[in-house]
Amino acid sequence: MRTIHLILIAALLLAGLAEAFHTDPYEPRVPPELLEKLQDMDNPYPPTPERIETGLEIYFGKGQCVTCHNVDGKGVERPGHSPRDFTDPKWQEARTDGELMWVLRNGSPGTEMPVRVGKVISEEEGWAVIHFIRTYKLNN
Ligand code: HEC
Repeated sequence: MRTIHLILIAALLLAGLAEAFHTDPYEPRVPPELLEKLQDMDNPYPPTPERIETGLEIYFGKGQCVTCHNVDGKGVERPGHSPRDFTDPKWQEARTDGELMWVLRNGSPGTEMPVRVGKVISEEEGWAVIHFIRTYKLNN
């Protein structure tokens, strides 16, 4: 009896986890209780050509973003959950820089999007790469 209960509970938990990540790309990725605060958070650095260039170097270099998000920003197919299409204007409008910074600091739980800021890049480099991601909107 006990074992059966445990198996049932485990199955329910796993089903819950599978539901945990959103398949809708426009749904916020950040915890709901932080959403408002993060939407008010501005990129502290201006998008100068030098910073955008720094962001590009990180995207293609030590941030390793290009391996999943691809050269064109549309993302490579991943098993389970593919990356965002950065050239999608609707997604660009839906997200604030503060929300993107949360994802760079925490990853996107339940997906392959890994923690980047504090691990492979600094906070300032994170803001620079966000400026670079925004250029995918301008270029398309
Ligand atoms: C191992 C693969 C991988 C790497 C490396 C990676 N990403 Fe991602 N990224 C993903 C996946 C998968 C998603 C989709 C996550 C989701 O749907 O929640 C994602 C989502 C994102 C998002 C969108 C989150 C949102 O709010 O919609 C941003 C921004 C992002 N990545 C930036 C970066 C940056 C910048 C780098 C490099 C510093 C990077 N990623 C490196 C796989 C990766």
